[in-house]
Amino acid sequence: MEYGTTLGQFLVEEQRSSTAVDTDLAGIVEDMARACKVISDIVDHGDLRGEVLAGLGALNVQGETQKRLDLIANDVVIRSNDWTGRLAGMASEELEDVRPVREDAPRGDYLLLFDPLDGSSNIDVNASIGTIFSVLRRRSNAPVPDTSEFLQPGRDQAAAGYAVYGPSTIFVLTLGTGTHAFTLDRNLGEFVLTRRGVTIPPAADEFAVNIAHSRFWEAPVRRYIEECIQGEDGPRGKDFTMRWIGAMVADCHRAVSRGGVFLHPRDVRDEAKPAKLRLLYEVSPLAFIIEQAGGAASTGPGRALDVEPRALHQRLPLIAGARDEVERITAYHHDGDAGATPHAPGAPGG
Ligand code: F6P
Repeated sequence: MEYGTTLGQFLVEEQRSSTAVDTDLAGIVEDMARACKVISDIVDHGDLRGEVLAGLGALNVQGETQKRLDLIANDVVIRSNDWTGRLAGMASEELEDVRPVREDAPRGDYLLLFDPLDGSSNIDVNASIGTIFSVLRRRSNAPVPDTSEFLQPGRDQAAAGYAVYGPSTIFVLTLGTGTHAFTLDRNLGEFVLTRRGVTIPPAADEFAVNIAHSRFWEAPVRRYIEECIQGEDGPRGKDFTMRWIGAMVADCHRAVSRGGVFLHPRDVRDEAKPAKLRLLYEVSPLAFIIEQAGGAASTGPGRALDVEPRALHQRLPLIAGARDEVERITAYHHDGDAGATPHAPGAPGG
């Protein structure tokens, strides 16, 4: 019986065809895939494995409620990557500071950033959650990387990927040569290539947004969603539908799989927190994956991959998916009156 291309085989072929993919980069992707298999197994067993799904009653560095699974997943990713010699350091959404690899391991030329468990509020309702990662090339020879080395714009990523733990576990990857999806074959324990060169259709009639925040959105986003809701009777001349899972990785995966647009827009209620998503662990990797699938990713006024990060845990809006829709929303941000944001206390762009 002929069997599909495994992730391992795919990575060997990528190394042969692209000078940008070396054995260390391929190894990091395999290490992340292994971590995702472990997390997938823990998620699959849920309450059968003790209280892994429980809340901890603690807050993480982001001031958000931590679940036990957040910490377990964080630990799994660190342990998969700490010893390999392929990385110099890691940064996690769950850790305050960057974490150099352990002292007895050789230092590699790459940096890893990750959100070990995205969509934690879905954990206790058995809805989709995921893991997101981004790989950067080192920019110095310093024995230990400092925070500034991690502050690279998304366009410079060497690789980005995510796993979605849903009815099946899917691993989506870009090495800068298209976006590809692998499905976990649980019998073999292998990710098998199921979609090579994913393409997001440029037009869409589906959007994903948390409408409960709508009174705090900027005017261009309100205009866009209002026009979608007017459907056939409005300026768009067609009906839209809305879907919302509440885990960014799963909502973006819908856009990657069948199109549509995902929005977590700027929120004007608190100047200190203009957005919720983390630039380095969520926005940059998903923007890279979506652009490589022919889609677009914007912060509202401009391309997400061009943002120069200022801080490790910086937050930013993301509007991503179908290219025509994202370009329309970006254009609304530059469109005279519609660009004005009545509620905004002078929020800066980008
Ligand atoms: O990163 C945090 C996160 O869990 C995302 O996965 C998700 O899109 C978002 O929060 C949902 O936040 P809210 O419910 O405030 O829209």
